[in-house]
Amino acid sequence: MKKIFKITALAHPNLAFIKYWGKKDEGLNLPANTSISVNLSNLYTITTIEFSEIFSSDQIKINQEENQKEILRVVKYLDLIRKKAGINWKAKVVSQNNFPKAAGFASSASGFAALTLAATQALGLNLSEKELTILARLGSGSACRSIPDGFVEWKKGEESEDSYAYSIFPANYWKLSIFALFLKTSEKKVSSSEGHRLASTSPFFKTRIKKIDKKIILLKKFIKERNFVNFGNLIENEALEMHAIMFTSRPSLIYWDEKTIKLIKFVYELRMKKFPVYFTIDAGPNPYLICEEKNEKNLLKELKKINSIKNIIINYPNSGAKIIKKDLF
Ligand code: PMV
Repeated sequence: MKKIFKITALAHPNLAFIKYWGKKDEGLNLPANTSISVNLSNLYTITTIEFSEIFSSDQIKINQEENQKEILRVVKYLDLIRKKAGINWKAKVVSQNNFPKAAGFASSASGFAALTLAATQALGLNLSEKELTILARLGSGSACRSIPDGFVEWKKGEESEDSYAYSIFPANYWKLSIFALFLKTSEKKVSSSEGHRLASTSPFFKTRIKKIDKKIILLKKFIKERNFVNFGNLIENEALEMHAIMFTSRPSLIYWDEKTIKLIKFVYELRMKKFPVYFTIDAGPNPYLICEEKNEKNLLKELKKINSIKNIIINYPNSGAKIIKKDLF
């Protein structure tokens, strides 16, 4: 029998246009609502995994660190995959992001998507895309949206087997430029897992959930029509709604800082000057600005005027997780 199975996968973080905030089942990462996202071309995680019967324990390195909390989470997830494959070999895992983790840039999404693909392939599990998304979801909820291509919908589902993600439009359907703005890159103090737990304590959470399916239908329509203004207004309002849930949770959760608010105001000013640009923000202080590709250069020129921005990475809608040839070890 062959003794070594080594595979490398690459996955992009995804940016949610309709957010996943609140879980129906914490153990299974079943979300309170359906969400929609897009994969980001220039942010990525690469993960190499090697299983061998000669390893006596799992060795896991994420961004050159050995953080015990993260390691435990990964080992638990690998146990699930090993059980599925009926193999109990230990693994060596090296994972590297090209962006700061845990600063609201969905590092767990790309991380668990890449790990899911690499580990299942290395163990010879031949899973369909749908099955991969269900498995990735168990690692980190939003990771399921980093498996399929382009614009992706994650159906909330009623139980584990019907809570999966699939592509609703290919990456090249709409030429959007998505600016990831790095204002603050330190790790956040409250993880999104803790945040999800708080969501239902907001008095506005029930109303959000009641109305969200209509929003999903509208967003898909605006993407289909490539109606940028309606799309932009909807996603910006959605981001503010999610943060309003955070602000009004008990205890409240505020991921923004002064620089975030400055950026929001700057976007409003640009729109007053008839520049079509909108923002969205995940669980962190760093906003994403979105414009159509034809306006990208002008937006970049405007952003160069703001000195609180440490770095800008421009992204386009991109493919999902894939196997690559370049191993990290
Ligand atoms: O997958 P998690 O637990 O990191 O949750 C992600 C939550 C948000 O990024 C804030 C929203 C989303 O839909 O990605």
